[in-house]
Amino acid sequence: MVKICCIGAGYVGGPTMAVIALKCPEIEVAVVDIATPRINAWNSDHLPIYEPGLDDVVKKCRGKNLFFSTDVEKHVAEANIVFVSVNTPTKTQGLGAGKAADLTYWESAARMIADVSKSDKIVVEKSTVPVKTAEAIERILTHNRKGINFTILSNPEFLAEGTAIKDLFNPDRVLIGGRETPEGQKAIHALRDVYAHWVPLDRILCTNLWSAELSKLAANAFLAQRISSVNAMSALCEATGADVSQVSHSIGTDSRIGPKFLNASVGFGGSCFQKDILNLVYICECNGLPEVANYWKQVIKVNDYQKSRFVNRIVSSMFNTVSGKKIAVLGFAFKKDTGDTRETPAIDVCKGLLGDKAKLSIYDPQVSEEQILKDLAMKKFDWDHPAHLQPTSPTTSKKEVSVVWDAYEAIKDSHGICILTEWDEFKNLDYQKVFDNMQKPAFIFDGRNVVDVKKLRQIGFIVYSIGKPLDAWLKDMPAVA
Ligand code: UDX
Ligand code: UDX
Repeated sequence: MVKICCIGAGYVGGPTMAVIALKCPEIEVAVVDIATPRINAWNSDHLPIYEPGLDDVVKKCRGKNLFFSTDVEKHVAEANIVFVSVNTPTKTQGLGAGKAADLTYWESAARMIADVSKSDKIVVEKSTVPVKTAEAIERILTHNRKGINFTILSNPEFLAEGTAIKDLFNPDRVLIGGRETPEGQKAIHALRDVYAHWVPLDRILCTNLWSAELSKLAANAFLAQRISSVNAMSALCEATGADVSQVSHSIGTDSRIGPKFLNASVGFGGSCFQKDILNLVYICECNGLPEVANYWKQVIKVNDYQKSRFVNRIVSSMFNTVSGKKIAVLGFAFKKDTGDTRETPAIDVCKGLLGDKAKLSIYDPQVSEEQILKDLAMKKFDWDHPAHLQPTSPTTSKKEVSVVWDAYEAIKDSHGICILTEWDEFKNLDYQKVFDNMQKPAFIFDGRNVVDVKKLRQIGFIVYSIGKPLDAWLKDMPAVA
């Protein structure tokens, strides 16, 4: 019987292993983590992450061939295949600060694997890591191996949050990178056999190690670049009177471009895009390619520009000050159908508004008050550590920020509304009721293009929607970019 162990029971490790367990009933899968509360949650009725369909999968396998445990060493020792899906934060100090990945957790995982192993193992890199990490890990393993053979593979995960289960059930491709040696090829085949339980063989791509590692960074960089491209267009649309949704639709019908990932927004967020691009930038710089590095840096700059442009629009429309004004923030997660707030654009937008002394009332159906207050106090890059090792920061004052559990409560008596996550429920609010309960003039700033602009203007709102022809009110306000 093949035994699999995954170190890191997070957004990647948890759902991926649950699906492997479901699709491969004869394989025993253990997901381990140093964070006891996280493992307890995986073993409870309230899983630590919100992901449509995940509850069902976990319920079907947990206790049968899927186990969640803090006994990291025991399960690693017993496994034939060890996935590593631990945090890879951006360095905040020392060489490469602000760009390079900090591989501390990865390195300690590798040393622990070498320490506790009594049989040969395939070690699978599942976290996104800088290119050539596998080589470093391989060295740590082989220098500490005590006669045991370790074969390293790179098997980057392409699932997107909110659709993780769907993506895992039916992936566009599974990528497995390994050494071009007989042992490397044997390991690739062993992992391919796991995925072949449900993924057609022609969708399992096998490459060398570096290609697999770089493909992951490249895929995320290309996706993020598409969003920055359409967001750059959204600024031009606002300046010229074009409608970004119409432009996106028109270019998306070109089969070479394709329709997906062309929604203008207040900016991309999530744990991967920015981090992976920074990583790519650092690798380019280290390889003497500053022009290539600058090209990719621009994708992040446009994303930051989009967020500050949004804040400037709000402040300038509301008579150049939001000081003391109640602003309702609808949505805090980095996208709908997830409770994840890592690098969510809501953090920068809220911080921008707080910088102008606004009073915020925030509602998100999946994000807790504790998380929101923590996020607003945390320093850039500090989120990517196991929960109990996260640097502590002072919490945000509850005077400036209140977190409520109902959209109408957030909106009551507010001067303006910002929509920062595209939750479906924000499309279907009773906007007449909303309008009646707000201060006048009543403003809506839609960072996700979810509202019906025409209808809201008829009700009496002053509406700003990213990349849409501007309200006469906004046209008269000072330029904001
Ligand atoms: C993580 C990384 O953040 C990402 O960079 C990488 O590409 C994939 O793995 P994700 O699963 O979304 O992505 O992160 P997270 O939910 O933070 O999970 C990581 C888990 O690893 C945490 O639960 C943490 O407690 C655990 N961990 C970390 C360990 O068990 N051991 C460690 O030494 C470090
Ligand atoms: C991404 C990649 O899609 C996935 O393949 C990889 O494994 C991890 O990183 P994720 O971060 O979960 O997944 O979400 P994704 O759907 O890619 O969205 C990222 C951000 O871009 C979100 O903030 C989203 O709102 C934004 N976005 C996405 C847009 O602003 N416009 C779009 O058209 C699409």
